[in-house]
Amino acid sequence: MDGNVKITVLVENTAKGRNVYGEHGLAYLIEAEGKKILFDAGQSDLVVRNALAMGIDLSNLDSIVLSHGHYDHTGGLSAVLDQLAGEVEIYLHPAAIGHKYKLTPDRESVDIGMSDKAIESIKTARHINSCNWVERPTTVAEVLMVTGQVPRKTDFEDTGGAFYIDADCEEKDIMADDQSVFFDSSDGVVVVLGCCHSGIVNTLDYVAELAGSDKIYAVIGGMHLLRAKDDRLEKTMEAFQKYDVQMIGPAHCTGMKAVAKFWNAFGEKCVVCKVGSKFEFELR
Ligand SMILES: [Fe+2]
Ligand SMILES: [Fe+2]
Repeated sequence: MDGNVKITVLVENTAKGRNVYGEHGLAYLIEAEGKKILFDAGQSDLVVRNALAMGIDLSNLDSIVLSHGHYDHTGGLSAVLDQLAGEVEIYLHPAAIGHKYKLTPDRESVDIGMSDKAIESIKTARHINSCNWVERPTTVAEVLMVTGQVPRKTDFEDTGGAFYIDADCEEKDIMADDQSVFFDSSDGVVVVLGCCHSGIVNTLDYVAELAGSDKIYAVIGGMHLLRAKDDRLEKTMEAFQKYDVQMIGPAHCTGMKAVAKFWNAFGEKCVVCKVGSKFEFELR
């Protein structure tokens, strides 16, 4: 891979190109130093079909990192494991396999957790040589870091939704399992997000602390700002300013209003992040 990190979007809500499709979900292939890491798996076997359509071989993956346990990031896991030629190491927070529900505005309880099939494939370790239960910052395949649980420090961010760990929707899900990945490029720190239920500012603050940097070069992924009030959106924009972010790829669950705000505030720094999008960075 000649010292470069290549990120290919395999699943996102939107798509570009022939024979690839979008679905509500997220999956990226991160390639560096000859290693292939899948970050999230979308919600169905689409991750495998899109990869095939793009001429990408997923049978020789080294690692799979799951950002959190929601169905739209984990539903494709068993399909990915099924097509492996060898075995992978997998990284996820213990809370990712717990029960997860959301309460709709109509007060309907909906199961949004990991499917039984996905949990089963983790528990039976099918095509998995090591399952790493990540709560602390951890190195993956010697090329990137997964944050582990992200400290919640800001007073203006929340998980972004009415999330619960019981079907009656009485016990809040703090989404402790939410984590992001990052690496150091020659241009600066690159952060790739799943849904960012920890809050994007909490996540950026934590990554900056872990990376020992007051600047972040690129932020790509879902920021779950669909329900964010103006005050939170303003403070989010300020954080991107503060970290002097040069590449912003708001995707998946970021929400139209927040995406519009990003494009308004940072026009030329924003990039489209849909199925088929590719980003390349020089590894530091
Ligand atoms: Fe999501
Ligand atoms: Fe989520």
